[in-house]
Amino acid sequence: MPLDIIVMAAGKGTRMKSRHPKVLQRLAGRPLVFHVLDRAAQLEARRVVLITGHGATEVEAACARQVSFSGQFDLKFALQQPQLGTGHAVQQALPQLDDDGLVLVLSGDVPLTRVDALQALVAASGGERLALLTVRLPDPAGYGRIVRAAGGQVRRIVEHKDASSAERAIDEIYSGIMAVPTRLLRRWVGQLRNDNAQQEYYLTDAVAMAVADGVPVVAHCIDDALQVAGVNSPAQLAELERAWQLRQAHALMEQGVRLADPARFDLRDDAVRGTRAELLCAQDVEIDLGCIFTGRVELGEGVQVGAYCCIANAVIAAGSVIQPFTHIDGEKAGVRVGEGARVGPFSRLRPGAVLGRGVHVGNFVEIKNSQLADGAKANHLAYLGDATVGERVNYGAGSITANYDGVNKHRTVIEHDVHVGSNCVLVAPVTLGADGVVGAGSVVTHDAPPGVLTLGRGRQVSKTEWHKPVKPLKN
Ligand code: UD1
Ligand code: CA
Repeated sequence: MPLDIIVMAAGKGTRMKSRHPKVLQRLAGRPLVFHVLDRAAQLEARRVVLITGHGATEVEAACARQVSFSGQFDLKFALQQPQLGTGHAVQQALPQLDDDGLVLVLSGDVPLTRVDALQALVAASGGERLALLTVRLPDPAGYGRIVRAAGGQVRRIVEHKDASSAERAIDEIYSGIMAVPTRLLRRWVGQLRNDNAQQEYYLTDAVAMAVADGVPVVAHCIDDALQVAGVNSPAQLAELERAWQLRQAHALMEQGVRLADPARFDLRDDAVRGTRAELLCAQDVEIDLGCIFTGRVELGEGVQVGAYCCIANAVIAAGSVIQPFTHIDGEKAGVRVGEGARVGPFSRLRPGAVLGRGVHVGNFVEIKNSQLADGAKANHLAYLGDATVGERVNYGAGSITANYDGVNKHRTVIEHDVHVGSNCVLVAPVTLGADGVVGAGSVVTHDAPPGVLTLGRGRQVSKTEWHKPVKPLKN
């Protein structure tokens, strides 16, 4: 039976106190509703109807832009305005669904449901039953309760506000997720009334209608409350973020990655560039506390990442050591670190930084759109932008490439085995010939020939006729 999905996403999310719709708030750098749409893709849904209301234009635009879903399923939108309850929401979506399908109802603000739980729910429906995803909670206040007959069969769902005190004692709650044949849901949803405590059209009233129609209702009860937890406030968002990160951390540790502390590890989508979080680790990778990985990052065999590094869109080859507090962001162009390199502490690698084997980059060194060949070193307080740096070059402390004339960027070429002294300014375009030395403090505006010492600075003088000024004596 084809699977169609309704995602409820009309709610305002008042408690987020945000200008943006709740379902666009990010978990692991990814809007909440995208997490839900990921499930739809994994379940190979035929069609997804997203119910929008608050911030509908923003939500639709974000989803439509999201290329990773295009072609995976047919995405439609249904506007629910005003919002008269979950049953009313489903009423808006049903005209876009065919009767031959099974419909799975999800919420756009419930990001952590596992695909296997949803598959089990779909199987429990079997294309003929109404299947409810339920969970037992120590504190079920606020939720719809699963009311069962003496024999255990589900009779109906009662919303918290309509429940008697005996019903409020029931700890099995409805998660907001159900699977049901579309043709049956269509029939029941057409009969909903709003004569209840909230004067809303409750989707949950369909359960008693199913029972009245002799359609079996099954509850698939899971024991992991996080899977059905919704986001209503910044605190809940943070809680689910940690849960999600812990899941990712454990998945990496399963693969053998050594995380100093799985509770202090983050892997996120690159929200700016829309790239998905992906951390590929070879054997014996070690990651210290507090690191944040963004977008696609590859760590080769034996790579060590020190504490509090931020690494985005980068490939780091085997045996490299990234020391604490290093910031690497390849953005679109990427960053590549060669085998056995040593980067950090406090280094910054920007887009197009390509380091060869055994390169050393030290503290407060910034590298952008530059290639450093094998064995090159820039150890302290330096800037290399738009530069080609040869093998074994030693780039002195405090030296910079002046690569920007205010309008255009120019290249600096430093051939192999050049020694650039401390505090030099290389005014691009400029080439430093192989094996040469540039004396400390030089401003290099012309190409330097190979194999010689180049100096570009004022000559040092010491003046003997000079007298140190003396303060007049006060009396
Ligand atoms: C609903 C269930 C309740 C269940 C709970 C689980 C009903 C009547 N009750 O509660 O049994 O325990 O979910 O969280 O279904 N929404 C719309 N349009 C509306 C109303 C809601 O799109 O008119 C969306 C919300 O944005 C949200 C979802 O539906 O994504 C659930 O709504 P919410 O108000 O959080 O749930 P309740 O109705 O309180
Ligand atoms: Ca409500």
